[in-house]
Amino acid sequence: MKTRITELFGIEYPIVQGGMHYVGLAELSSAVSNAGGLGLLTALTQPSPAALAEEIARCRTMTDKPFGVNLTFLPARTPPDYAGYIRSIIDGGIKVVETAGNNPAQWLPMLKEAGIKVMHKCTSIRHALKAQSIGCDAISVDGFECGGHPGEDDIPNFILLPLAAEQLSVPFIASGGMADGRSLIAALALGADGINMGTRFLATKEAPVHENVKQAILKATELDTRLVMKPLRNTERVLVNKGVERLLQKEKELGAAITFNDILDEVGGVYPKVMVDGDVEVGAWSCGLVAGLIHDIPTVQELMTRILSEANELVGKRLPQAMQASA
Ligand SMILES: Cc1cc2nc3c(=O)[nH]c(=O)nc-3n(C[C@H](O)[C@H](O)[C@H](O)COP(=O)(O)O)c2cc1C
Repeated sequence: MKTRITELFGIEYPIVQGGMHYVGLAELSSAVSNAGGLGLLTALTQPSPAALAEEIARCRTMTDKPFGVNLTFLPARTPPDYAGYIRSIIDGGIKVVETAGNNPAQWLPMLKEAGIKVMHKCTSIRHALKAQSIGCDAISVDGFECGGHPGEDDIPNFILLPLAAEQLSVPFIASGGMADGRSLIAALALGADGINMGTRFLATKEAPVHENVKQAILKATELDTRLVMKPLRNTERVLVNKGVERLLQKEKELGAAITFNDILDEVGGVYPKVMVDGDVEVGAWSCGLVAGLIHDIPTVQELMTRILSEANELVGKRLPQAMQASA
């Protein structure tokens, strides 16, 4: 395939694996890149910049294709050593960084001087325009459907993507709710240059997480995600479970007075318990509405091949037939 995104990142297919805490490790990212997409390691899953450097080196032994790194800026009492992580990214020869969570302006000069392409993930058009204006090379437009942090505007991709196409000049990809060839062709039709998938890649054989996580996604329907932390303006879409129900009960009881400390048990340190130990009921872990469209656990290569063949079938058959019928 050829879009502005395949050209910008030097990849075969415009399909990106979004940064995922405790999931974006070398096993998954290299598999996505080997299959012709763009895999992303998740920087902050590594406990230190030195550990990220090692993970980049490990990923290099698993693929000779391009892969990138996700750098997430989320509210934290003691911010991580972002400069150190960026140093590891530059020294590791990474050419694509996905930033997310907050305005990356402070870190752009360091990244751009090193010749790195920066794609910022945004949940609103105003943030996307801002990212474009400060020099980001591409945008990942993350709709309300997405697993993780959909922002506070609640605008789904059927509205967000055409607006992005109307207003952005840099390339952008559609993120949130993407699962298959239908998503890819729909995203292209709405003006995007490719897609970003989180939850769908989490439910693959190579995702280096506990089997319970994959089975929980497989079992889930489109009705099984919840939005938590809305009162804290840090909304996250997560898979419902006992811990999440407890969290929502606290939100209901405490109302506007709720603080992060009140829900520490359900949101703090949850990822290793879920992804490593397989305790999927313990608290809030990100999952998209797209869980409802996930019916198997394929290898990454099988998934990518299927997406491409569905896309070809749509473009070669269904769409021409539909247009002919209406002519
Ligand atoms: C388990 C999980 C963890 C995630 N962790 C991060 C993260 O650390 N940083 C980030 O920018 N996005 C994170 N995301 C969001 C994804 O990168 C992606 O934007 C999102 O999953 C897209 O929506 P989808 O799940 O419908 O494909 C996470 C998503 C999931 C499912």
